[in-house]
Formats: sequence, C-alpha cells, structure tokens
Amino acid sequence: MKQIIAIYPGSFDPVTNGHLDLIHRGCKLFDRLVVAIACNPDKGDPLFELEERLEMLKAMTADLENVTVDAFEGLLMSYCIEKNANAVLRGIRAVSDYEFELQMALMNRKIEPRVETVFMMPAEKYSYLSSRIVREIAAFGGPLAGLVPELVEQHLRRRVAAKRSTTFVIPTK
Ligand code: PNS
Repeated sequence: MKQIIAIYPGSFDPVTNGHLDLIHRGCKLFDRLVVAIACNPDKGDPLFELEERLEMLKAMTADLENVTVDAFEGLLMSYCIEKNANAVLRGIRAVSDYEFELQMALMNRKIEPRVETVFMMPAEKYSYLSSRIVREIAAFGGPLAGLVPELVEQHLRRRVAAKRSTTFVIPTK
C-alpha cells in the first residue's frame, strides 16, 4: 500500500504546545511526518537560530517513532518532492488563519499538483496561541506555563536575558 509521507512546515520560532498538539495528531494519521523548519529570509531575524529550533523540536518529538525533524531552504514544494512527500500538514486555529492558508495551499497545488495540503485543528485551548505571542510574553517576563514545554520556556528565558544584556537602554532623563 502507498505510504503517506507528510511534511509539517513552519518557522517554529519557538515550537509551542499548539504545534506539538498538531504533531501528535498528524503522526497518528500519516505513515511518516517530517517537521520541517523553513529558513525563510523574508521573515526577518528569528529569535532562535536554526540550530536551537532544531534542538528543541528534536527533544520534544524524540518519543514519536514516525516523526523526524529537518530544515529546508527555498520552495516548500521542491522540498516535498525531494523527500518523496505526498502531503503537507498545516494547522488552522481560527477563521482568521483560513485566508492565508487557502492562498498558500492553492499556490502550492498550482506549483505541484501531486502534493495535497491537509488541515488539522489543534485543541481549542491552543486556538489563541502563536509563536509570536509567546515571544512577546517572554520578552516582558510574563507567564509561559501551558503555552510551551518547560524546555522551551528555559530556552526562552535564557534567550531573553541574553538579549536584554546586550540591548542599549535609552536613559529617561
Ligand atoms: O509557521 P509559518 O511561518 O506560518 O510557516 C510558513 C511557511 C514556512 C509554511 C511558508 O512560509 C513556506 O512554505 N515557506 C517556504 C517558501 C515557499 O514555498 N513559499 C511559497 C508558499 S505558497
């Protein structure tokens, strides 16, 4: 029988509990799931370097037999063909995600009709969670429990402290 190999692409800067929820759902559906970090220069400077994002994702998925973690540059569809993947997994949290996701899915289908995009919904409790919001809460020292795994929280606290020590503070007087 045909094996379904799916790619779950994203920036994962950093991986959140919402991403992990989707990975757990996805690995039950597909024969193999490749979590692929996009090296996307369009997105500006990430909070975490690629190596650290890979390290966190690998640690958080180590117990999932059919899940691997990788990184790619360039077009997602070229990467899918290189990996013999026949599906792309993306998460939809709310209606607001739909427009962008639809545009990407249809454009990807135009580029490579052999690859299908599959949407899954994370648990409702993660419907308002994003890496951007996590980075912002971390930057202001807010609570991260329940939003990211403890290991990611430790990386965030360290990264924010390191950034703070190198940031120039404008004097108020
Ligand atoms: O987690 P993100 O940042 O929402 O993920 C966006 C991502 C990485 C899936 C998207 O930017 C992507 O696929 N980038 C690779 C370049 C590409 O193929 N672009 C054309 C998409 S239609």
